[in-house]
Amino acid sequence: MSDIKACLFDLDGVLVDTARYHYIAWRELAEELGFVFTEQDNERLKGVSRAASLNILLEIGGITLGEDEKARLAEQKNNRYVEYIAKMDSSEILPGALDFLQECRTSGIKVALGSASKNAMTILNNTGLTPYFDAIIDGTHTSAAKPDPEVFLLGAKALDTVPAHCVVFEDAAAGILAASRAGMRSVGIGSPETLGEATLVVPSLQQLTVATLKESFATV
Ligand code: BG6
Ligand code: MG
Repeated sequence: MSDIKACLFDLDGVLVDTARYHYIAWRELAEELGFVFTEQDNERLKGVSRAASLNILLEIGGITLGEDEKARLAEQKNNRYVEYIAKMDSSEILPGALDFLQECRTSGIKVALGSASKNAMTILNNTGLTPYFDAIIDGTHTSAAKPDPEVFLLGAKALDTVPAHCVVFEDAAAGILAASRAGMRSVGIGSPETLGEATLVVPSLQQLTVATLKESFATV
């Protein structure tokens, strides 16, 4: 058993309800390209960088494009996504997230963001979440996408905490894998069907307190 000294949070789909905006923006792009992109397909994009997401989307549509055209489409999708997140406010913080972040602070647990998004700062500022973090690692700081552990290892370093004392919170299978490759325990936010590899899976942060987390992890 190791103490929990730091919590590393993914952003999209864990703290804020942006996963649906990503989905809508990709679905609209797929429609324009002439194919249907389902919510099930979208699971493969969660936690994955923008460029890698576009490659998966094009593979699903059976479409091959050159790099210039791909860059144009990625920008088109992002412009649409940015329009959605520009209107966000604190009402889009997911249930239980704020209480859990506050509890981390009062329990002396350090908090970092570990997100693949290059739009993370816009979302954190618009929702008022920025002050809850001791360190912020996002898509502008990383070179390798989840399931590579880079984002979480940078988070642990920024918090001056070793991986064994860190817990990652993730809604994506790629993120859970990144956590285990970083040597960290993880909490999957969502369904055990997609997040079965996590140390613990809960439907949302509403079902969790720091005390129940410590209790669940007492033997792992
Ligand atoms: C992750 C999302 O947090 O960020 C992915 O789960 C997204 O769906 C990725 O593709 C990159 O985000 P952005 O905002 O840089 O396009
Ligand atoms: Mg996510």
